[in-house]
Amino acid sequence: MNPLISGLNDKVVLITGGASGIGLACAQALAASGAQVVCADLQQTQDLPQSCEFRKLDVSSESMTNELVADVLARHGRIDGLVTSAGLSRVGDLESMTLQEWDQVLQVNLTGTMLSIRAVANLMKQRKQGSIVTLASINGILGNPSNLAYCTSKGAVIQMVRSLAADLGPHGVRINAISPGLIHTPMTAGLDQSPAYNGFVKQHLLHRAGQAHEVGNAIAFLLSDMSSFITGTNIPVDGGFSAAKVIEMY
Ligand SMILES: NC(=O)c1ccc[n+]([C@@H]2O[C@H](COP(=O)([O-])OP(=O)(O)OC[C@H]3O[C@@H](n4cnc5c(N)ncnc54)[C@H](O)[C@@H]3O)[C@@H](O)[C@H]2O)c1
Repeated sequence: MNPLISGLNDKVVLITGGASGIGLACAQALAASGAQVVCADLQQTQDLPQSCEFRKLDVSSESMTNELVADVLARHGRIDGLVTSAGLSRVGDLESMTLQEWDQVLQVNLTGTMLSIRAVANLMKQRKQGSIVTLASINGILGNPSNLAYCTSKGAVIQMVRSLAADLGPHGVRINAISPGLIHTPMTAGLDQSPAYNGFVKQHLLHRAGQAHEVGNAIAFLLSDMSSFITGTNIPVDGGFSAAKVIEMY
């Protein structure tokens, strides 16, 4: 049991994209705190803690998402928390990106996030409680060249969170975004081969990339009752990346 994160014991939490990277680290933190965790993903993994369930899901499918949520409800009786970590990135600017790539990124990162939230929101409203955490990005706060669809999708997620906080807040349901900086996960594997990698890492004020569990812990906090007066916000977990533009003049 993780004594630092209280109030998660027995909470039922659904994590999309829970089979890898940040979603998986979140599942591990929650399981260690006594939560009942359901990980939904396109792909299975051997690394899930034994107490976590795995369910296959494509977040861009409304019917699959609704069926999964109905099933979790039938078997657990409630859903206390939702984490939307399913996501993907495609490199490309206005000229090099295909329309198919644009559609795919927005379909998963933005529409998929909305569909997952829509599937659980009414259940949470009826119980007058619940916490939703979406994965945005520093690329949703700041522009980044050649990453047009991804930046657009993550900026939209941050704004969706603000809008939904206004809709859900009066019903006792909280929703927040987390914006990670560069985190070591399968999504970012191979980036260290780029000549720009060291410069990118140095823009993080802590001069290192983050680990997935450092984001998972922040998500666990937002799901717990320890964050009971926090809603509608976007919390960078980025080693200070979004706090300063480092210009070494002196
Ligand atoms: N790793 C980083 O540096 C970083 C930085 C900022 C934001 N993020 C965001 O955090 C989230 C998690 O990223 P990660 O680094 O853990 O990536 P990851 O690739 O390790 O994990 C993403 C998971 O999402 C799943 N997924 C993709 N499309 C799906 C779909 N249609 N339906 C269901 N599952 C699907 C994948 O199978 C994978 O298991 C993403 O939304 C990502 O954009 C990551």
